[in-house]
Amino acid sequence: MRVLLVGSGGREHALAMALAHSPNLSALYIAPGNPGTAQYGTNISHIKADNVAGLIEFAKQNQIDLVIPGPEAPLVAGLTDACQKIGIACAGPTQAAAQLEGSKKFTKSVCDAAHIPTAQWQAFTDSKAAIDYLHQQSLPIVIKADGLAAGKGVIIATTMQEAEETIKTMLDGSAFGNAGKLLVIEEFLTGEEVSLFAFCDGENAVLIGAAQDHKRIGDGDTGPNTGGMGAISPPPFFDRNAQEKALDITVRPMLREMAKRGTPFRGIIFAGLMLTDKGPYLIEYNVRFGDPEAEVLLPRLKSDLLTIFKNLCQGKLSQSKIEFSDQAGVCVIMAAQGYPGKPKTGGLISRIKEAEKLTDLKVFHAGTKINADNQLCAAGGRVLCISAFASTLEEAQKKAYQGVAAIQWKDGIWRKDIGNRALRKKVN
Ligand code: AMP
Ligand code: GLY
Repeated sequence: MRVLLVGSGGREHALAMALAHSPNLSALYIAPGNPGTAQYGTNISHIKADNVAGLIEFAKQNQIDLVIPGPEAPLVAGLTDACQKIGIACAGPTQAAAQLEGSKKFTKSVCDAAHIPTAQWQAFTDSKAAIDYLHQQSLPIVIKADGLAAGKGVIIATTMQEAEETIKTMLDGSAFGNAGKLLVIEEFLTGEEVSLFAFCDGENAVLIGAAQDHKRIGDGDTGPNTGGMGAISPPPFFDRNAQEKALDITVRPMLREMAKRGTPFRGIIFAGLMLTDKGPYLIEYNVRFGDPEAEVLLPRLKSDLLTIFKNLCQGKLSQSKIEFSDQAGVCVIMAAQGYPGKPKTGGLISRIKEAEKLTDLKVFHAGTKINADNQLCAAGGRVLCISAFASTLEEAQKKAYQGVAAIQWKDGIWRKDIGNRALRKKVN
C-alpha cells in the first residue's frame, strides 16, 4: 500500500516507525514530516498538515491508497471527507465526527444522550446568563472555550471574580477568537487523570492502552500548560482490565450514539478521563493519538499497524489481531529553552545514536531540522522525545533519563519528575 502520513511531531515519527514494519507498505510519504520520519519514508516538507487541498492533490497525483492523519487540524478541516470524495481511504473521522474534539458543547451533548458520566455543564453565548449560572455553582469551577484553542481554552477558576473575568474575556472580548464565542461552564472533578486510547471502526472499539501525560512545564506540575512534557504507560493504578471497563463506560456508548446520528466515528479515539471515586468520568475526547502518548504506546504494538488502519477504514476491526507487549514505558520530552513561550531554535543536537545504544530506548524527533551545514538542530518548542521501555515503570523511568543524559544539546530543558506521580500513587 502507498501511504500518506500527515504531521510533523514525535507522534508522527512513532507512527512512521510502526508503519515501516508492515510487509504491506510499498511507499510512505510524510507531509510535512521531520528528520525522524525521513528515516522511514519521503518527507513532503512543503505541504503543511492543515493544507487539506495540498494533501488531496498530492494523494491524487501519487496514487495514495491510505491517508493517516496525525494531528486534529486536518480532520476538523474535513480531510477525511475530501479523501472520501476522491475514493481514497483515510484513517480518521469525518468532519462531522471530528466535532468530538472540535466542540466541547457537542461532546457534552453526546455524553448526555449516551449516558456517559461527565461533569455537570451548561453552554452559553451570553455573558449575563453565564454569570447568573455561575453564581449558583460552587468553586472551583471550570470554564471552557467551545472550539479548538491550542490547549489554552480551559480555565479552572478558584474565585468568583476570576470566573466572571474569564467569562467576560471569552464572550465579550476577542482573546479566544471564534473558539471562545461559545463557552461551557462545568463542575470541577477530582481524581487521577488518565488518557485512554482505542482504534474505532464506527462500530467496534479495540483497546490500545492508557497513558498519563504531564502537561505543565515545571516539575511538580507547576507553571504553564504545554502540549505535554512526558508520559508514562500504563498508569500502574489503571490496568488493562480497568481500561476495558472504562472503554465500556466512556467510548462504546459514544460509538453507538454517533452511529445513530448517521456520523459514525472511525479513527483513533483519545478519551481524557478523570478516575473519580464514582468511576471514570469523561473530560474530553480527542480524535487522534496524543503526543507524547503515542511515543509510549506505539513502540509496544506487536501487530501490523497498517493492516489495523486498513481494517479500521473498512469497518472490519473485529478481524484485526491487535497485540501489545506488556512492558512499561516512560517518555521524556526535551524542549527548547523558552518553551512554551518563544523557543530558542538553531542549537545543535548530537549523540542520539549513543542514547539509542540503551536497549528498548528510542529517540523520536519532533521540532528538529537539518541545517545548511547538514547538522541536526532544534527548530521548535518540543524538540525530542526519549521513550524507554522495561519490565517495570521504575526501570523504564531510569532508562529514559539515562537516554536524556546521553544527548548533547545545550538549549534543552526537560522535566526531571516524569513518572514520579504514578510511582508515588502505586506505593500508596
Ligand atoms: P480539556 O481541554 O477539556 O482536556 O481540559 C484541559 C485540562 O483541564 C484537563 O486535562 C484537566 O486537567 C482539566 N479539566 C478539564 N475539565 C475539568 C473538570 N471538569 N474538572 C477538573 N479538571 C478539568
Ligand atoms: N498530550 C496531549 C495531547 O496530545 O493532546
